[in-house]
Amino acid sequence: MARPILIAPSILSADLTHLADEVRAIDAAGGDFIHVDVMDGHFVPNISFGPIIVESIRPLTRKVIDVHLMIAPADPYIEAFARAGSDIITVHAEAGPHLDRSLQMVRSFGKRAGVSLNPSTPESMLDYLLDQIDLVLVMSVNPGFGGQAFIPAMTGKITRVRQMIGDRKIHLEVDGGISPLTAGEVAARGADVLVAGSAIFKGGAGSYAANIEALRRAAIAGAARP
Ligand code: DX5
Ligand code: ZN
Repeated sequence: MARPILIAPSILSADLTHLADEVRAIDAAGGDFIHVDVMDGHFVPNISFGPIIVESIRPLTRKVIDVHLMIAPADPYIEAFARAGSDIITVHAEAGPHLDRSLQMVRSFGKRAGVSLNPSTPESMLDYLLDQIDLVLVMSVNPGFGGQAFIPAMTGKITRVRQMIGDRKIHLEVDGGISPLTAGEVAARGADVLVAGSAIFKGGAGSYAANIEALRRAAIAGAARP
């Protein structure tokens, strides 16, 4: 049976001068997860949001708040993001030496745990973690900015991660350069959560529903390929 395709708008590309309206708009437009990119200017060459942003948007939506931690170390901040109202907390495999401990910490706060892999990081990093995680995030760009081009070599990694997951209840999320042009291929290879920033927020709030629908349609068509 085909996995439902979930769309996760990344608020990094939202009009941040009207964040509350933007969150309500993407919720109403059909976004399934609200993707929050947390950057520390150290793990990645950019600085974005802290726990206070999660706390601020939590009352605005019942949708899943999907927090992508591009910070190193991650452990000192996991509790704050959990208490702020995150539903999924994803740490990068490259953020520190004790990934297993970080995942246990996320789950100890009753949250779903994710692992993100930079483009150069092999999927073998997941070998001993599959029973500790609820989501694998395959980065299809080098993290730090929206609006970058999709790295084609990541399609092979998506296929292999899907094989590793097997029939476990683990989401396979892809992030970076996702548009109607790339959504079909990543879904065909097994991605079920598609993060998108520029492809959704372009054109203003009046276009969000059509942009989300275009992504979902392309992904469903891709997933249906024989
Ligand atoms: C990049 C972030 C992505 C980014 C996606 O480091 O993790 O979530 O915002 O933006 P687009 O879809 O424009 O590539
Ligand atoms: Zn992200």
